[in-house]
Amino acid sequence: WILTLTAQTPTNIAVIKYWGKRDESLILPVNDSISVTLDPGHLCTTTTVAVSPAFEQDRMWLNGKEISLSGDRFQSCLREIRARATDVENKEKGIKISKKDWEKLHLHISSFNNFPTAAGLASSAAGLACLVFSLGKLMNVQEDHSQLSAIARQGSGSACRSLYGGFVKWIMGKEENGSDSLAVQLADEKHWDELVIIIAVVSSRQKETSSTSGMRESVETSLLLQHRAKEVVPKRILKMEEAIQNRDFASFAALACADSNQFHAVCLDTSPPIFYMNDTSHRIINCVEKWNRSEEAPQVAYTFDAGPNAVLIARNRKAASLLIQRLLYYFPPNPETDMNSYVLGDKSI
Ligand code: DP6
Repeated sequence: WILTLTAQTPTNIAVIKYWGKRDESLILPVNDSISVTLDPGHLCTTTTVAVSPAFEQDRMWLNGKEISLSGDRFQSCLREIRARATDVENKEKGIKISKKDWEKLHLHISSFNNFPTAAGLASSAAGLACLVFSLGKLMNVQEDHSQLSAIARQGSGSACRSLYGGFVKWIMGKEENGSDSLAVQLADEKHWDELVIIIAVVSSRQKETSSTSGMRESVETSLLLQHRAKEVVPKRILKMEEAIQNRDFASFAALACADSNQFHAVCLDTSPPIFYMNDTSHRIINCVEKWNRSEEAPQVAYTFDAGPNAVLIARNRKAASLLIQRLLYYFPPNPETDMNSYVLGDKSI
C-alpha cells in the first residue's frame, strides 16, 4: 500500500526583517520579524509526501531532481515531526498505521516550486513550511500552526512565517530550547486585501552570499546589527503592528522601506561588506521614493531581501497599475539586461 498527501504553501515577504541568529543550530533569531504571506497559488511550493512499507529509505525530489535529505535542517524537521506522529487510519484503503509504526516507515517527498528557482526568489520559506505542514498532516500530528511553525523554523528561519496567511509575526522568544520562538498571525488574508504585490526580478542569477552565511558574518562583525536588534526593531515591530491593524499605508510604507534599507546597511556594515542590491535596485528605490514624495500620500512600499530583486507593495489596484506603467517605461524587461521580468502577485494579502 501507499498513502499520499499533497499540500501547497505560498512564500512570505518580510516587511520587518529577520537578520541574525542567536542560536545557529536551533535557528533562533536576534529580533522579531513581520511578514506578509502571498496569496495561495502565487510563488508557492507544492509538496506531495508518501509513505509505504515498500520504501527502503527517506528520499526527496525538488523540481523532479533528487536531493539529499542528510542535512541537519531536514533531519531536525523530520525528527520533530516523526516524534509527534499519531495513529492514522484510512478505511477506504484499509490502512492502519500506529504511532509506533511511523518510527520504522520511510517517506518519499516530492516538491515543486511554481517559480523558477534560478530567478533567485526566496524558495526556502515556502519549501520548508510546506514540507513540515504536509508531513504533519500525513502523520496526523495534532500540534497547531504555531507549534508547527517552531518545527518549520528549524528548517529555515523565514519558513516559520509561511504557516499562516495574511500578516504574520515571528516572535523571537526567550527560551534556550527555542520552544517559544514561533509564528503567530497578526491579521488574516482578508484584513487588508487591497494591497497588491509586484516583484521585479532584477537578476535571475543566484545570490553570491546565502542568507545563512551572510547573517552569520553580520552577527560576528556588525555593530549596527547589535544596535538594530536591541534598539530599533522592538520599537518598529510595535509601530508596524499598529499600522497593519489600522491599515495605515503611509506608516506601513515608511516602516517597511526604512527596515529594508537598514537591513542592507547592516550588510554594508559587515566585514567584508555584503552587497545584495545592485544599481538597478538603487534606481528602483529612487524611482519609488520620488513618486511617493510627489503624491499627497505614499503609493508604494519597497523591500529587498538577500538579493537585488525588488518586492513592491502598492496601496491599491490603481497604484499598482500606475506602478506597472512606470516600471515598464523606466525598466523594460529584457532577460539580457538588469531587469529580467516581473512577477505580479495579484492581490497578495
Ligand atoms: C533577508 O530564512 O533564508 O529574507 O534561517 O538561515 O534559512 P535561514 O535564513 P532565511 O533568511 C531570510 C532573510 C531575509 C529576511 C526575512 O525573510 O526576514
